[in-house]
Amino acid sequence: MVGSIYFYRIKLPNMKLKALFLILPLALFVACKQEKPKEETPASTTNDSRPDWHSFAHPELAVAKHLDLSLKVDFDQKKLYGTAAWTIENPGKVSEIIFDTYGLDIVKVTTGTDAKEVQFLLDEQDSILGSALHVPIDAATSFVTIEYSTGPDAAALGWMEPSMTFGKKQPFLFTQGQAILTRSWIPIQDSPGNRITYNAKVEVPKGMMALMSAENPQQASPDGKYSFKMEQPIAPYLIALSVGDIAFKSISNRTGVYAEPVMLDKVAYEFADMEKMVVAAEALYGPYAWGRYDVIVLPAGFPFGGMENPKLTFATPTVIAGDRSLVSLVAHELAHSWSGNLVTNATWNDFWLNEGFTVYFERRIMESLYGADYVEMLDELEYNELLVEMQDLDSADTRLKINLIGRSPDDGTTGIAYQKGSMFLRMLERTTDRTKWDAFLKSWFETNKFTSQTTETFLAFLQKNYLDKYQVTANVDEWVNQPGLPANCPVPHSAKLAATEKAAANIATALPDTKNWTPQEWMHFIHSLPETADAATFKKLDRQFHLTQSTNAQIQNAWYEVSIRHGYVTEILPQVENYLVTVGRRYLVRSIYDALKETGHIEDARRIFAKAKPGYHAVTRGTIEGMLK
Ligand code: BES
Ligand code: ZN
Repeated sequence: MVGSIYFYRIKLPNMKLKALFLILPLALFVACKQEKPKEETPASTTNDSRPDWHSFAHPELAVAKHLDLSLKVDFDQKKLYGTAAWTIENPGKVSEIIFDTYGLDIVKVTTGTDAKEVQFLLDEQDSILGSALHVPIDAATSFVTIEYSTGPDAAALGWMEPSMTFGKKQPFLFTQGQAILTRSWIPIQDSPGNRITYNAKVEVPKGMMALMSAENPQQASPDGKYSFKMEQPIAPYLIALSVGDIAFKSISNRTGVYAEPVMLDKVAYEFADMEKMVVAAEALYGPYAWGRYDVIVLPAGFPFGGMENPKLTFATPTVIAGDRSLVSLVAHELAHSWSGNLVTNATWNDFWLNEGFTVYFERRIMESLYGADYVEMLDELEYNELLVEMQDLDSADTRLKINLIGRSPDDGTTGIAYQKGSMFLRMLERTTDRTKWDAFLKSWFETNKFTSQTTETFLAFLQKNYLDKYQVTANVDEWVNQPGLPANCPVPHSAKLAATEKAAANIATALPDTKNWTPQEWMHFIHSLPETADAATFKKLDRQFHLTQSTNAQIQNAWYEVSIRHGYVTEILPQVENYLVTVGRRYLVRSIYDALKETGHIEDARRIFAKAKPGYHAVTRGTIEGMLK
């Protein structure tokens, strides 16, 4: 299950992984009893006058509220040529408005209804934040129009050559805005604390379809020209675009899938439960606010599992397993339609408000559709991963509210925001009952829809509308502002996973009965194999269960990594190579390169990476390059 595994996780060397399962009870004890740390920096939101450290803008003074975007997509140059026409307000009566940009080539800036050209100033580039664009305005200025093109290192843009697509005939482009990449393709006040509406006109090569996080076409337009509207205010990181040879298939009257034509039927089969998921989500936390809910499955170079772009989730093809076993990803991205897109983290320090709520909500949707046992399995897998990951995190970064000032927001995308965040909500749920808790969560979304919120505003809302109301107490401050996992952390335990641990422990004497095992059980079994299992044991397992030939990317990931670490390498290297060349999701390839590197096969890793690299997105490429230096 994808929901159990995140792209950002750093898989640890084998020893540590093994140690985890051998000393799991001890690890649980230590994790839950962690002592208060000695060194502590205060998790203040900002030490700077900017409301969000990760944006140069001062929207409290001069704010850009609506975007009319015109874009031409040039696949030959791998560039977007654009005009961003912003409707602005100047409540501070200031003399400039500031936008975020990253590597953009600014051609011309005009202001006012008469489009008067003005002298802009582009600051020097900061390696994390990019360059502030200063545009002179006066108290009455209501329009700022910026003509620009994207630079060669626009990190938001995934340009895929035809060879990197499933159809192999046409190139493909997708964007990825989160966390602060939108500024590399649109000049924008790029803070999740700002909300904007947008219209866009996009011109693409004839025959291709263009889709955005907006109302979308279901057929390609003959002239390659498309118009989009997003009338609900969204955070900048949620603006998204995909262009390629794309077709649509309906699932229900408000849900459907987009994919390259050769993938379309498989995708529609895999995601057949989409409507049921929306129904289950609405029953929990109120009406779906965005009209249609569609998913696009992208080429393999998409570096993440999924991205919750409003109305149109972007997803990796690695979840198309053929047996619907990895669909919690859709539940997760759908859940963001409430937690994330409707109520948004105001700064990246509050990221857990997006992801912790979403993991909790994802699990509730999954429980409605597939039952509590299945969910317990997802929860435990993820909890185990968190314990491993926590060994490598600074203690300050194991608080829910973290301090990312001076750092990349990527540093906050750890299992803390996701799994600790979700367990915090699970703990709160258990202080009363689901009727009360669900009513509370529903009111959180209803009261704050289309706003951005901080950890503090959530905690105040929680105190008033839940804890005080039902006269319960909880160690909220400990969960949010202290490191580690508090003693009352609801530790998930799955009987099914426990059975696979036993099977793994007995591997020297008996092959397990694996009938009806889900990929989640397989993954846990593989990760639980004893340190003493040698290459011959792996060979025996492979002969029996054909794991090297698996077509489930999650099983492949677990099997290849653990096999390599146990010395079962030469026999499976061609398949490993094929996997690394065809999968671009960072989370799924990183651990394999790591295993090769740490077991003396770095030359193989480098050779395979050289071959795979053209198919990887910059996000994946950067990570692997850093590892194999
Ligand atoms: N919003 C995230 C993806 C993200 C987070 C991208 C931070 C860039 C920066 C998305 O909802 C997510 O969590 N995706 C997971 C899969 C999900 C099932 C947990 C992923 O991509 O692995
Ligand atoms: Zn998420």
